[in-house]
Amino acid sequence: MSRENRVHCAALRGKIMPAEAAASLIPSGVNVGMSGFTGSGYPKAVPSALAKRIMDANLYGKRFKIGVWTGASTAPDLDGALAMVDGIEMRLPYQSDPTCRKRINAGEMEYIDIHLSHVAQFVWSGFLGKLDIAVVEVAGILEDGQLIPSSSVGNNKTWLDQADKVILEVNSWQNLHLEGMHDIYYGTQLPPNRQPIPLLRTADRIGEPYLRCDPDKVIAVVETHSPDRNSAFAAPDENSQLIAGHILEFLQHEVKKGRLPKDLLPLQSGVGNIANAVMAGLNEGPFENLTAYTEVLQDGMLEMIKSGKLACASATAFSLSSGALAELNADLDRYRERIILRPQEISNHPEVIRRLGVIAMNGMIEADIYGNVNSTHVMGTKIMNGIGGSGDFARNAYLSIFMTPSQAKNGAISCIVPMASHVDHTEHDVQVLVTEQGLADLRGLSPKQRARTIIEKCAHPQFKPALMDYYKRALEHSPGKQTPHLLEEVFSWHLRALRGESM
Ligand code: COA
Repeated sequence: MSRENRVHCAALRGKIMPAEAAASLIPSGVNVGMSGFTGSGYPKAVPSALAKRIMDANLYGKRFKIGVWTGASTAPDLDGALAMVDGIEMRLPYQSDPTCRKRINAGEMEYIDIHLSHVAQFVWSGFLGKLDIAVVEVAGILEDGQLIPSSSVGNNKTWLDQADKVILEVNSWQNLHLEGMHDIYYGTQLPPNRQPIPLLRTADRIGEPYLRCDPDKVIAVVETHSPDRNSAFAAPDENSQLIAGHILEFLQHEVKKGRLPKDLLPLQSGVGNIANAVMAGLNEGPFENLTAYTEVLQDGMLEMIKSGKLACASATAFSLSSGALAELNADLDRYRERIILRPQEISNHPEVIRRLGVIAMNGMIEADIYGNVNSTHVMGTKIMNGIGGSGDFARNAYLSIFMTPSQAKNGAISCIVPMASHVDHTEHDVQVLVTEQGLADLRGLSPKQRARTIIEKCAHPQFKPALMDYYKRALEHSPGKQTPHLLEEVFSWHLRALRGESM
């Protein structure tokens, strides 16, 4: 398919221009809503052209910064390029780019790390200020101006609706057979006019296959032919396999107890290698006819669809390795029957997650002995990525599982600590903790019972005695006995790590 054939709307064909010309329509100081979610469906040309423009402005001593709002993380040619030239004033709602991370942690870039399900309503309500321009990648434009979404949906519906002006990137690299895979729901409202989201099963389609866009708002159409950023997944290492094994055993136990159906409940799987390894474990495991109501579809889930283990997956974006992407593209018509891509306000909607009874499995940086989880900040002050969708899922899941290797940095750091140095998921939202050492089922346990269980099951043997010693002394000396702590000592573990010593 040639590039020209992707823009079927006559009014928009007249607005085709090079990326540099489109970037020149973005002034300093504006908020720009860009498409993109975990490396897929982000605009490939305009952000880089804008970064070049910002660099030129900087050479003349002019300050040029914009607000960058996205679905979630993007890629080096968006986040990386703009952060490199110090062109981002405010970033939200999630990033995982090394240059962005460095600038944020150096205090050079503002960052608001937001529950992904909240972003759309925050924008409708005006909490984040005015959205000036949307830059959205699509796979094609229909005659009537409707847009065929590309490999992620994210917040695109909201950006197109709320922005004063729209720049479209039409990427002919995106497979046109994606058409029909998306389900864009236009029924969300703000209170007090909210209606129930009519999504009762993972496979339900409640919306339209296309994004709506007022052609009069479109100020530029840029044609591109560029691949998404691929996510390379490591082959599951020993720790990931052990973690996956513990989770599988636990799920089997829950089925035996009659607390989960044989085909489980819809799965949500977080980002990264461990999550991918859990999917690989499930693919080898005894469960059949599974479903996924999740945010990101990684290699492991695609493999499960291929093997027939996963009957249906609902997400907002793909995050695939190059091999898995080739597999998807080779058989997209078949995969389209089993995959639905939705706006992130729906893929992560608390009401739907609670109704479906999702089993949420997410990574973490550290947990404390009472079950509070830190997913975002290293040593309490440095951002890693962001909360992403983990809070949307964990708070509302039927089962909320957090997983990590028990140690980091070659054993210098314990991922189980007396008190988490930052809390994203409180003890009330964390039901199961898993490390390669074992699985702690925290349901029905008081704080003191949780502490013993977490130390016993999840801590690495290297740190277990020190954690138990801390807990016992806290029990003896803490003024309150409900959640015993020694406040003068509680962050001594992190302080040792910051000094470069073992925790
Ligand atoms: N203290 C200090 N550093 C730690 C640490 C700890 N307790 N635990 C891990 N780290 C470091 C690792 O050493 C690694 O550092 P490196 O990049 O310099 O090698 C980095 O943190 C990532 O750790 P890794 O073990 O590779 O974890 P991961 O890729 O599984 O990611 C999270 C873990 C928590 C960062 C990731 O799951 C995340 O961003 N979660 C929040 C968002 C989310 O859950 N999204 C899914 C919702 S759908």
